[in-house]
Amino acid sequence: MCGIVGYIGENDAKGILLNGLEKLEYRGYDSAGIAVQSTNDLKLFKVKGRIATLREAVDETFDATVGIGHTRWATHGEPSETNAHPHVSQSGRYILVHNGVIENYQELKNDYLADIDLVSETDTEVIVQLIEQLADETGSTIEAFRKTIALLDGSYAIALLDKEDKETIYVAKNKSPLLVGLGEGFNVVSSDSMAMLQVTDQFVELMDEELVIVQEDQVTIQKLDGTNVNREPFEVDMDLDDIEKGTYPHFMLKEIDEQPFVMRKIIQEYQNESDQIKLDEGVRNAMKACDRVYIIAAGTSYHAGLIGKEMLEKVAEVPTEVHIASEFSYNMPLLSEKPLFIFISQSGETADLRAVLVEIKKLGHPSITMTNVPGSTLSREATHTLHLLAGPEIAVASTKAYTAQLAVLTILAVDTAQAKGIELGFDPLKELAIVGNAMEALCDQKDQFEKIAYQFLYTTRNCFFIGRGMDYHVALEGALKLKEISYIQAEGFAGGELKHGTIALIEEGTPVIALSTQEHVNNLIRSNVQEVEARGANVCMITREGLERPGDDVVIQDVHPLLAPLVTVLPLQLMAYYAALHRNCDVDKPRNLAKSVTVE
Ligand code: F6R
Repeated sequence: MCGIVGYIGENDAKGILLNGLEKLEYRGYDSAGIAVQSTNDLKLFKVKGRIATLREAVDETFDATVGIGHTRWATHGEPSETNAHPHVSQSGRYILVHNGVIENYQELKNDYLADIDLVSETDTEVIVQLIEQLADETGSTIEAFRKTIALLDGSYAIALLDKEDKETIYVAKNKSPLLVGLGEGFNVVSSDSMAMLQVTDQFVELMDEELVIVQEDQVTIQKLDGTNVNREPFEVDMDLDDIEKGTYPHFMLKEIDEQPFVMRKIIQEYQNESDQIKLDEGVRNAMKACDRVYIIAAGTSYHAGLIGKEMLEKVAEVPTEVHIASEFSYNMPLLSEKPLFIFISQSGETADLRAVLVEIKKLGHPSITMTNVPGSTLSREATHTLHLLAGPEIAVASTKAYTAQLAVLTILAVDTAQAKGIELGFDPLKELAIVGNAMEALCDQKDQFEKIAYQFLYTTRNCFFIGRGMDYHVALEGALKLKEISYIQAEGFAGGELKHGTIALIEEGTPVIALSTQEHVNNLIRSNVQEVEARGANVCMITREGLERPGDDVVIQDVHPLLAPLVTVLPLQLMAYYAALHRNCDVDKPRNLAKSVTVE
């Protein structure tokens, strides 16, 4: 995780770096720092805490036109001022920020830095000390940087300042994302284009094991062997308003509200002139050619994958397995003869997924990345990409990306079915439009969900979410949403499984949120509800029009049963949001988490 930025030009570096870091806080927010250089001085500001705290610590009067910055999600060493980046070499000459994990840092420390007392507990400090040592030996910063990079195992996006050269930022990357942004009389470095959109929309993508010399009026990209690389910039087409909260108190609420529009956008983008599904030919052929799909994902995206399996099997008759990415890499199951891998990832950067992608590429298997971030690592490295088109998702808890994943999975399943000549019996794009309307109706009933959250969840210690079939998968997502932002212990269960142990936890007043949108199990889940009610549970029942019974709390509009998860999740997102709000939690930036999880 972590985010890095750099600026070199004629303007105030401090402001640009701090604004950029604010936009990167989704990558980690437990400590932060900047190093800024004027014509005759260099200053370092580091804090434990967020960018707002760093802003207060920075000396406003210090005039600097070059600098690097970092926002951290701790991996090696606790969040503290000492462990915060930038890290400085022993003599104070080199200053460095790093995103990633250096796997061989202990070996490097033993082999090269035995005589040096490291100040921090981080893997990063080893890099900067090594650069200094090799610079002493070679007499050249660029040579020392190159040699150091060649010694590193693991992932890194690095920006380096040399106190004795005020005209250069040295940059390198491997596995961790990094872009160089181009401007008139300045250049920037950033983990994500979003952070530097304030100054430019022209970016150059960097590849693994490339090294870049960034100067005010020049950017030189080199391979590790020193040969130059020419690469054209690309324009980032993103509206700055998309990454601002506007009138909303939190990004999460804004993003929940955006879901009906995301549905419409997806319909628009995946529709041809004859109102039929339009899908990349490569994706269609890959789906037709495979004998089994392996969905690989983590967290909320994994929950979307579970529903994707139902869609692919029920609609397109494609056998599908869903795997947690971090488990798959190191416990690979027996694969079918012609497997196709689908990586579902909002960020397109999740390291657990990338580890799988690297392995299956070695085996020569094709892949599709379904992501919200075009140009992200997983999108670049997979054979094909499907875009989620949800717009930037800033709140750490995923909402609109999840429903976008479900919508795109529906489109993929339907397209595959059509390509195989399977009769569908419904118009998928029309059904997705109905979903958009049903979502909108729920967004207009926020008061109701705030009330339920207040009555049901606000003071509880724990909470259960139950459902059967697809509703069970949504229950898992509802529980994750609640626990990650409100810190209430919440678990999702298959309704019929409770009696095999978990029902022992139900006591007087335990909140249970039950979902029933699938006709064939409506009676069964309602029996499970009676079982918990008989033991004192407080049940909130969410159902679909046509299946409701007297006393149900939330009735969603009558959408196609296969698409019900796209709608039932909204009340759960809203309840989690309001529960967290009333518990005074930091909704958009829950403790210990980061939006983009780039460590395994
Ligand atoms: C929870 C959440 C996470 C992510 C997970 C995977 O609200 O957002 O569980 O779903 O970290 O991230 P991506 O989808 O970016 O691969």
